[in-house]
Formats: sequence, C-alpha cells, structure tokens
Amino acid sequence: MNDKRFYITTPIYYPSGKLHIGHAYCTVATDAMARYKRLSGYDVMFLTGTDEHGQKIEDKAREAGVTPQQFVDDIVAAPGGVLDLWKLMNISYDRFIRTTDDYHVESIQKIFRKMYDNGDIYKGSYKGKYCKPCESFWTESQLTDGKCPDCGREVQDAEEEAYFFRASKYAGRVRDLLLNTGFLEPRSRVNEMVNNFIDCEGGLQDLCVSRTSFTWGVPVDFDPGHVVYVWLDALFNYMTALGYQNDKYDDLENFWPADVHFLGKEIVRFHAIYWPAFLMSMGLPLPKKVYGHGWLNFNGDKMSKSKGNVVDPHLLSERYGVDALRFFLLRTFPFGSDGNFTNELLIQTINVDLANDLGNLVSRTTAMAEKYFGGKLPEGRQPNPDLDDSLTAMVTGLRARYEEQMEKFQFQNALEDVFKVIQRANKYIDENAPWALAKDMDANGARLAAVLYNLLEAVRVCTVLLIPFMPESCGKIFTQIGADKAAQTWDSAEKWGVLPANVSVAKGENLFPRIDMNKELAELDRIQEEARKAALPPIEIEPQLDLVDFDTFSKCDFRAVKVKACENVRKSDKLLKFILDDGTGVDRQILSGIAMYYKPEELVGKTLVAIVNLPTRKMMSRESQGMLISAVHTEQGEERLHLIMVDDNIPAGAKLC
Ligand code: ME8
Repeated sequence: MNDKRFYITTPIYYPSGKLHIGHAYCTVATDAMARYKRLSGYDVMFLTGTDEHGQKIEDKAREAGVTPQQFVDDIVAAPGGVLDLWKLMNISYDRFIRTTDDYHVESIQKIFRKMYDNGDIYKGSYKGKYCKPCESFWTESQLTDGKCPDCGREVQDAEEEAYFFRASKYAGRVRDLLLNTGFLEPRSRVNEMVNNFIDCEGGLQDLCVSRTSFTWGVPVDFDPGHVVYVWLDALFNYMTALGYQNDKYDDLENFWPADVHFLGKEIVRFHAIYWPAFLMSMGLPLPKKVYGHGWLNFNGDKMSKSKGNVVDPHLLSERYGVDALRFFLLRTFPFGSDGNFTNELLIQTINVDLANDLGNLVSRTTAMAEKYFGGKLPEGRQPNPDLDDSLTAMVTGLRARYEEQMEKFQFQNALEDVFKVIQRANKYIDENAPWALAKDMDANGARLAAVLYNLLEAVRVCTVLLIPFMPESCGKIFTQIGADKAAQTWDSAEKWGVLPANVSVAKGENLFPRIDMNKELAELDRIQEEARKAALPPIEIEPQLDLVDFDTFSKCDFRAVKVKACENVRKSDKLLKFILDDGTGVDRQILSGIAMYYKPEELVGKTLVAIVNLPTRKMMSRESQGMLISAVHTEQGEERLHLIMVDDNIPAGAKLC
C-alpha cells in the first residue's frame, strides 16, 4: 500500500443561493493542491460537499414555497447547480458529502450522544444574540456596533432551552495548540483567535449546540424538539465522509487525521477553536493543519451583491475558458490574504501571462519547428553552453523551487517561479534569433535544432508543473510539443533531455487568444445590465389605495386642457413647461416631470387632463398652476410615465366627472 497519503478538504458550502467566483476560489485551490499531490505520487483523498441544514435554509425554502430538502436538491444536484459547477471547473474531488445524506445524519446523532454521555454536552438555556446568515451565537459584548462581528449584519434576540458543549474545558489545550504548534496558518490569524475568543473577558464560552426554534437539522434522538447546531453537524463531515460512526465508508485509517482543511478566514474560528475541542472531547486525533485563506472582495465586499463585476463562474468560464479562470484565481491573489476581484484584472492576467508569455512561447516554438524542420527536429544538435546553460539550469531547478512554495500553499509564488522560466525562455528566443540562424541552414541547422529543442524542453517542464492549475490546456500543449506520457510525469519535470532528439511537433490552435480589453469590458457591462433587467419583474403597478368618500373625491377639479405651447425647462432633465388652454380664456402654466418620455413639439395640440384646483407651486423658480394627469408603472426596475391624452373633440375646459 502507498504510504504517501494526503487528505485535503474544502469547506462544505451552504446551498442557499448560487455560488459565485469567491466560492470557486477555495475549491480551485484545493483542486490544484490535490492534483499536485497526486502527480507527486500521493494517494489523495479530496473531499468537498454541501452543508444543507440550518435556519437559513429552512427560511429560504419557506419563501420559495418548497420543502427544505427540495430547496437544497435544486441548488446542489439540479442542472446548473453545485455539482455541475464543480464538473465544469474540472474539480477532481474524490468524495462529495451532503449533510442530508443518511449516513452522515446517523453519525451525527451518535456523536452528539457520545458527547452527552461523556459529560461534555449538557442541557441549559440560551439567551443572547443570533446571526442567522452565519448561524452564529454571540453575546452582547462580542457584537461589533451591535452587529455580527463576522459578517456585519443585523443579529436577532435568541432565547431557548438548549444543549451546550463544554468548550471552556478545552480552552487551555486549544490555546496551546494555536500558540505552540503550526496547527493554524497563516500564523497571522493565531493571535486574533487567541485574543478574541480565549484570552478575552470571561474566557472561552461554552457553545450552544442545539436549537429548538426550527426543525431543519439533525434531530437529537434522545430529546425530540432539539436539532443539532449546524456547525457541529457540519464540522464532523470531515470524518463522517471517511466512515466515522457509519458503515458507508472505511477510510478513516487511511486518511485521518486530515493533512489540511482549507477554508475562508471568517470560519477560522469554528475550525481552529471548536473543531479541535470537539475532537479532544471525542478523544480523536486532530487534523494536522487548518489554513484560513483570504477573501476575494468585490468592490470591498465579500458578498457578490455589489454591481460592476461579472462574478458568475459559469459565465466567466464560458467566455475565457475554465483553465484561464482557474489560473487567474491562483496566480493573482496570495492565498492567505484578501484580494480585489475585477473583470479588468482577470482579462489583464489572461493577456499578459497566458497570451503574451505562455501562449506566445508555445506558438513561436512550435511554429518555428514546423517552418524550419517540417515539424520534426533533426537528431544532430549543436549546443552552445554560453547561451544555453543559464536556461537549462533555471529549468532543472524549477521543480524544487515550485514544490517549496506549493508545500506552503503559496500558489502565487509557485506560479511566479514557473512564469520566470517562461519569460526567460522567450528571452532565449530573442538572444538566439532563430530566424537569423535559419538563413543559412547548412552552416547553422544543427545550432537551430538545439535552440528549438531547448525551448521545447523548457515548455515541457513548465507544462508539467502547470497541470495542477490548467489540466486541460496542459494536455493540449503536450500534444503540440510531442511530449508522450513519459515526458509528462512529475519525475520528468526535474530532468533535462526527456523529449526524443527527433521529436515531432505540431502547431495547434492558439490556446489563449488575446482579449480586447475595452471591447470586452463593454460587453460584460451589457451582459450584466441585461441580466439585471431579466431578474426584475417585467411590469409592476402601484398597489391600490384605501377607499375615500365621494365628497372628498368630488373636491378634485379635473379638466380637459389643450396644449398651446410646450418646451423643456432650462437646466432640468425632467421638467417640461406647458402653456395650456383651460377654457377660461386665460393661459394656464403647468410644469410636469415627463421630459424623459416626450419631446415638447409632439405634445402641442394634444388634449390632456389636468387637476386645476391645486395651490400654485414653484418648480425651478417657475410657477406651476395644477398638475397634468399621467399613468405610471414600473418596467424592469424603471419608472415610466404616460400622459393621459383624450379625444381632441372634447373642448378645452370640459369638466371630468
Ligand atoms: O461557511 N472569497 O459555507 P459558505 C473567498 N457551510 N472565499 C469565499 C468568498 C469570497 N468572496 N465567499 C465565500 C460555510 N467564500 C459553511 C462551511 S465547513 C464545515 C462549513 C468561502 O457557503 C467562505 O470563506 O458560506 C467559506 O470558506 C466557503 O466559501 C463556504 O462558504
């Protein structure tokens, strides 16, 4: 049996709405790590899944008029759902857990009972604050400006009978784990955890681990009416998915303890404090590492609500390719810190790294091999150590530099090392000027063959190391440069001269076409605007008002009026000024806010309806003697006004009743 084993997890996602590019970030990182480990000879278990219980899901299902199970099924397993997204993004997970799976529910019930039996869970009553979106309990003093310290949203009062987990009992051991081991990374997150939750006033509080105010959760089997708190339910997924307390799987011995849990920084608290405390209570080994990555912000916000950027991973993959998107996420943002996602940055990364550097290197090299040697390099090569050795040394040392960064989850740095070599190889083309050598093939053919061979080897090694990030594109590059399976292995990435001397090359499609930034950004704006409009109800009309008595109504004096003149009001986008014949022989002036809907000249001569017994009022320093009657409705989020126009045979001044 392979004794090199690696168990890595993503958080399990709340299926409460569509996943955005921020969710894909962690999953893509986990996938790159899992692929890297597999390539380097490990037996890997990569777990992901969905966290399907809790009040938030129950509420959303009620709003949608379906059962909670139907609601989550629709988001997880229906076309376009979470499973489809991971398939589209080429996520090579080995196991997918849903916390509504029977085996998991059964395991959680057993775990809860064991903790109750060992005295670490006890019954009490809870009074405090609850953040529904985060499914988090807080005391008054933990709130930030009265709001949830994790997400900044409103909290609600919560008071109910509940079971508690004796987290306080494990405070010392957890503190030691955080401060004196490498359990939590990046290291910068350790102090925040210890200071805010353990060394704080009152110390680490016991955690409320059951709820009675809703039912969508794992029932506490010995106390009907209680459901298990969603975080206890969710965290144990990392073990139930291996077969802990169930017969569904039998992988605990192989894969527990996990090598690393990847997760976003706002849920570090659960993974670095309560998760180890739960495991300590159960006498189980702790995971080796918890890594809290940063957020992708969208205009300064973790949620994708803000306008201005397309964040739908389906749409982005469709436009730029899955590999480009995967690459961008890990190349651009240091994994441990926050980053600001913009479409501009995405396009720029594709253009600079993929089109200019990598794409160019591959297409220039293969094109020259075709042009000068008909696609098959001759065996005789003439090396030139002065020109070749620095490139060769850089390439053969690359895998070690890359691995050092990957082992620290520094994807950005690992990719930076690869791209330094790609840039160096592009420079090598210019230094050796193959086009000049090709002018005299008799004299320089063997040298030209060496230059192209060296370039192909540099491309090959970089491509092996890029597989974890862009698996499909790398396959295509291997085909273009004639690399067979043996030239694609991890071992081969440390070696020079793996391609056969007479390698056959075939320039293929342009893998990463350059994108016209301005045109593309305009197109994305258009797509977003269309999507925004499509999401709005097509037509909305105002709700009807309460009844008024007839006398009140009769006091309003509606008259037919004829437009004698009409013009825009200077410095106003909205107002038109009307001069009206109201049948009295004296012109009436009314200002109306409908300039966005009519040109003044098209209204002259029309018969409209005005209410004429309103007090005169001033608008933009001009008097308005009454009001023209319009019909109003909202269309795709925008208000529309239509002046009421009546039969032109009706004389000016006729009363409407
Ligand atoms: O927290 N940038 O689920 P979740 C980076 N069910 N990461 C982001 C992000 C962004 N803009 N938005 C979300 C949960 N994430 C729990 C996990 S694990 C036992 C239970 C990340 O769907 C977020 O930080 O709200 C988290 O790690 C993950 O997406 C799932 O978030």
